[in-house]
Amino acid sequence: MDEPHQAMPDIEVLPAHFPIPGAGFLPVNAFVIKAKEPVLVDTGMGIEGEEFMKALESIIDLHDLKWVWLTHDDADHTGSLQKVLEGAPSARLAAHSLAVLRMSTAWAVPMHRVHWLNSGDSIRVGDRKLTAVRPPLFDNPTTIGILDDKSEAFFSADCFGAIIPSPARNVDDVPEGDLAQGMISWASADSPWVHMVEPSAFSQALDKIRQMAPKMILSGHLPPTQGKTEQVLELLARVPTSTPFVAPNQRALEQILAQKRGGG
Ligand SMILES: [Fe+2]
Ligand SMILES: [Fe+2]
Repeated sequence: MDEPHQAMPDIEVLPAHFPIPGAGFLPVNAFVIKAKEPVLVDTGMGIEGEEFMKALESIIDLHDLKWVWLTHDDADHTGSLQKVLEGAPSARLAAHSLAVLRMSTAWAVPMHRVHWLNSGDSIRVGDRKLTAVRPPLFDNPTTIGILDDKSEAFFSADCFGAIIPSPARNVDDVPEGDLAQGMISWASADSPWVHMVEPSAFSQALDKIRQMAPKMILSGHLPPTQGKTEQVLELLARVPTSTPFVAPNQRALEQILAQKRGGG
């Protein structure tokens, strides 16, 4: 885990980074919306569970937490979900129904604390309304981003993610060329179906975000992004016709393992 910090006056970032051998780092963020009914957005990676809980408790007393919003049930977003639900007895779990059902095959999700959301549905959390929005790119059918009508931030789940050369607190600290390359290759790797989509149809999905005009984009996999919405939308528009990502194979793994052995 990296040091938690404020993205906006009422939004805290719980940042972490995951090393991708030979490529750089994937930021892995969760967020706390300091709404009247405080909301945790995603729960980090399980491998850092203890650190995650410490970081979370440095920001909020778990007894005050009223909601956990799960953007989707991938492991890099659900890491501390059970711990959080145990430690925050009044928190409800806002998630897509299929995310809840899939997780229920692994552990007993307390269904009486669950709130099911589809894209377009909203919850009120005291001083604001949070609306579920399916982002233009996603790697999981249960994905629901969030439009916060008070801060006007858009929590985009995996969309707008990028593998970057070194961990960064703000997207402005990432060189533009690295951002472009990292975002396009992440998009192709994480949402390979995008190469089957007509670029014109995809650009309509991007237009929906353009029309939302978020003040900040808070991706699970990019440092907080302000004042760059048009720039990142233009990057994503290039993805359907970009060269599809090819994942490393066994030969690459053997090289990585040999390097590790060589390094002691
Ligand atoms: Fe994902
Ligand atoms: Fe993710």
